[in-house]
Amino acid sequence: MIKVAPSILSANFARMGEDVKMLNQSGADWIHFDVMDGHFVPNITFGPGMCAAVRPLTALPLDVHLMVSDPAFWVDPFHKAGADWLSIHAETDKNAVQTLEKIRSLGMKAGVVLNPATPVDMAEPLLPYCDLVLLMSVNPGFGGQAFIPSVLEKIQALRGMVDALGLAIEIEADGGINPKTAKLCREAGASVLVAGNAVFSAENPADMIRSLRG
Ligand code: DX5
Ligand code: ZN
Repeated sequence: MIKVAPSILSANFARMGEDVKMLNQSGADWIHFDVMDGHFVPNITFGPGMCAAVRPLTALPLDVHLMVSDPAFWVDPFHKAGADWLSIHAETDKNAVQTLEKIRSLGMKAGVVLNPATPVDMAEPLLPYCDLVLLMSVNPGFGGQAFIPSVLEKIQALRGMVDALGLAIEIEADGGINPKTAKLCREAGASVLVAGNAVFSAENPADMIRSLRG
């Protein structure tokens, strides 16, 4: 069953509470938090405080995507803030295995993220330590960008790796997801779709979420 994780990067920051309540009523499966520190990516969004503020407003799993230069530093603060899934970029952490193990030791689900230009093979040695692999389908930093089609081959290759190993790992696509690209990602083997712009600019977010799920 395909899960849809709307990204609050595209929510109205001045009325985040209402937007979270809208997601609760729109059939979203998870809520995606795009955390950016202005170092790993050329943008700054929000931190554990936003996660802690949203936590009491929803029972949906909080899916935190760390686009930060020192992800290990943020594991404890996001655990305390109520994160359920915590994903780190393989490009930023020389000790990714330790960080993934720490995330799991605190009871969260651990994810590894690859940028569009990072070969999918980079995820292979980390698969035993994660519950999710997030494949960026845009270059990280901003919502509303165009989908990068070459990522579809990475999704397909990763699906093959995960299934061959019999691992229960979610494959998440993030960036430029709309009904058209969602279908391509589903067919390639993605199991979770992040959508910011498509959901928050939709006339009817619930209909949009349904159409992304296929
Ligand atoms: C990029 C972010 C975005 C966001 C989704 O750093 O990770 O990909 O989640 O953005 P949309 O769905 O608006 O392309
Ligand atoms: Zn993201």
